[in-house]
Amino acid sequence: MLGGLSAAGFLADYWQKRPLLVRGAFPQGFCPISPEELAGLACEEEVESRLIHQQPQADPPWQVQHGPFAEADFLQLPQSHWTVLVQEINKHVPAFALLQDAFTFIPNWRLDDVMVSYAADQGGVGPHADNYDVFLIQGPGQRRWRLGYQPVGPEHLIPGLPLRVLAAFQAEEEYLLNEGDMLYLPPGVVHEGVAIGEALTISVGFRAPNRVELLSAYLADCLAQMDGEAFYADPDLPVQANPGEISAAALGKIRGIIRSLPLDEQSIDRWFGSFITDVRPGHYLPEPEQALDHNTFLQLLSQHGELWRSEYARFAYVTESDTLTQLYVAGEVYPLEPEQSFLAPLLCGQRVYTQEHILAVLQRPGSMELLLSLYQLGALYFPD
Ligand code: SIN
Ligand code: CO
Repeated sequence: MLGGLSAAGFLADYWQKRPLLVRGAFPQGFCPISPEELAGLACEEEVESRLIHQQPQADPPWQVQHGPFAEADFLQLPQSHWTVLVQEINKHVPAFALLQDAFTFIPNWRLDDVMVSYAADQGGVGPHADNYDVFLIQGPGQRRWRLGYQPVGPEHLIPGLPLRVLAAFQAEEEYLLNEGDMLYLPPGVVHEGVAIGEALTISVGFRAPNRVELLSAYLADCLAQMDGEAFYADPDLPVQANPGEISAAALGKIRGIIRSLPLDEQSIDRWFGSFITDVRPGHYLPEPEQALDHNTFLQLLSQHGELWRSEYARFAYVTESDTLTQLYVAGEVYPLEPEQSFLAPLLCGQRVYTQEHILAVLQRPGSMELLLSLYQLGALYFPD
């Protein structure tokens, strides 16, 4: 898929550094969805979607509508210059969930979601730069991508748009993607994809924590664990020559309070595992219909033949020591003793587990308890 490059070669020379075009990355093409099915998804309540319409003569020249849409919204559209985008399609179409397994050379926690866009002729979202790495896979149709390396600040954007579009764009490279081709873009590269005729594009998007958000989330977590009734105290206050001075002794106490923030490795590492696997605010894991005991679990397993990892849950683990592996699932932590530690790489390394695989796993002590807990959480499910 990387055009003859090894994963290590890709990471060393391209990842977060420069674009890579791979012709025929998917030699058979890749199209698990038709434009009609995509439009159907964009009409569903629980699906996140957008319709972006460019009208150069209008003010503003770009319009953005958010789904869910009604069928009539699509019937009113012109022949060209619009695109509909469906976010997190891996949650709704299993083939897109499985597509992510082609990218396991990048850690789970860096993966964000799969998005699919359908564009009418000339449709696109305008020239822009993203903060994240993305692999753009061309589905049916053709799209012309133009790339540029100019700086992008708020001052370079068309003002007043609900969309980040550059006011002026100097393209330095241009590629025409055909079905099955793939373009990798690191963060910050300006890109504009314009459909040549109707085109479907699949984006496998990555994420990286924003430094300010990371620090503020850690701080918030520390604060939540602190005693809110503890105050600065100075029963040892001496008489001061001038009341205006903040004394060295007072500053020492203040520094002590600030430094009491837990900044040790274990506090940070354990917080991060939960934080980065947590479900997005306002989103929830779909709860299983029934609580299972061992026997029902085995029955359902043989009935369905497979157990799947939910796309609503992120799985990651940390090997803390020879005796402790921490499995993080959807913000929850499962400490695994050496006997069960094999379960962490196994559960995190794939999305689908066959019956044979699970039955072999269940031979080992503690496995059933963990699988039942994850099922109960909604992180594992039996597919229809
Ligand atoms: C698309 O239009 O499918 C991709 C949007 C993007 O450039 O990020
Ligand atoms: Co983009």
